[in-house]
Amino acid sequence: MQNFSKKIMITGGAGFIGSHVVRLFVNNYPDYLIVNYDALTYAGNLNNLKDIESSANYRFEKGDIQDENLVKELFEKYQFDGVIHLAAESHVDRSILDPLAFVKTNVLGTVNLLNVAKNFWKNDYNGKRFYHVSTDEVYGSLGQEGFFTETTAYDPRSPYSASKASSDHFVRAYHHTYGLPVVVSNCSNNYGSYHFPEKLIPLMINNIVHSKPLPVYGKGDNIRDWLFVEDHARAIDIIFHKGSNGDTYNIGGFNEWKNIDLVHLLCAVMDEKLNRAAGTSAKLIQFVTDRPGHDMRYAIDATKLNKELGWQPSLQFEEGLRKTVDWYLSNEDWIKNVTSGDYQSYYQKQYSDR
Ligand code: NAD
Ligand code: DAU
Repeated sequence: MQNFSKKIMITGGAGFIGSHVVRLFVNNYPDYLIVNYDALTYAGNLNNLKDIESSANYRFEKGDIQDENLVKELFEKYQFDGVIHLAAESHVDRSILDPLAFVKTNVLGTVNLLNVAKNFWKNDYNGKRFYHVSTDEVYGSLGQEGFFTETTAYDPRSPYSASKASSDHFVRAYHHTYGLPVVVSNCSNNYGSYHFPEKLIPLMINNIVHSKPLPVYGKGDNIRDWLFVEDHARAIDIIFHKGSNGDTYNIGGFNEWKNIDLVHLLCAVMDEKLNRAAGTSAKLIQFVTDRPGHDMRYAIDATKLNKELGWQPSLQFEEGLRKTVDWYLSNEDWIKNVTSGDYQSYYQKQYSDR
């Protein structure tokens, strides 16, 4: 390990955002050793990292963030000086079906990582950093006006966001109580390549390709603030290196879309890309029973990150959406692979009674 200037554990690196973060760090920092620690749940997929898997500064270790012995062993083996923690159960609808799984991974798993890092670093925190990747959903739901800032009071309203809020509190508690050098970011909805098709955008793309119904919850009035995933990964890079110890940064694209407007835009782009007559895909839209406790609006104020660390989104939404559609249309095998098996039974359970 002597040759690497930093040894970083990235948890959840086989997932959607994690794979983009791993790729960016492996490519941008050849002098860092990047260890991807991932349990490979239904959402984890090593095919997301084919292009960098044989890089000299990349390793994969399979394991659960709740496994204290294995995490300790890996700290000994690699002598980590940084952790970028993305591993989580991440889907709101699944948290409604099985909340306990979210408590186990998101709360207990995070506390286990904090504890091992604290004990391993033994109060010698020079050059160390624990970066916790979180979500804007911890702030609850907005009305028509206003934005979430870093000082907005927490008000989580789904089992997923409650578990992420709890993990954020533990991260800050380890900073205040033990001096652990932490940094936290809370990001809005991501979209882009390698996004698992249980989430809105890739689910709609996949259904349009197969001319299947497009299930829009409620009236489609809910609003999300969408950010291209590679812009999120870039923000994580900047915050990991330049963020202040103990601080929080909100990440978002100032890019709010009502779900139904987004689905219509996607339908228009897909009609064009698939050479279908205009209006073909929109005919597949079906309004279905709403998500219980469905948060109405998320919108992030990312001014602090822009002013203090100079980050800003690189892409306009329509450009990012077109790039995303192109990626899905040219990666049919990837989508076929992740939608076989378990995905079918999840889809059945989630959508058959709506
Ligand atoms: P994802 O579901 O695509 O990936 C999660 C990854 O974590 C998978 O590779 C999975 O195998 C792994 N994992 C799950 N449980 C594990 C465990 N117990 N031990 C080890 N590995 C485990 O998630 P994502 O969308 O890439 O989100 C990554 C992080 O970013 C999460 O912490 C999420 O809360 C946060 N976040 C996501 C978004 C978004 O729009 N997707 C926005 C803001 C924040
Ligand atoms: O805001 C950040 C969060 O964004 C992340 O923390 C989560 O990990 C991520 O999953 C995402 O949560 P959402 O619940 O906002 O994302 P999802 O893609 O599940 O849904 C987006 C919106 O679309 C939401 O209002 C629900 C709606 N929706 C979703 C699905 C899957 C539908 O109308 N129909 C659907 O089939």
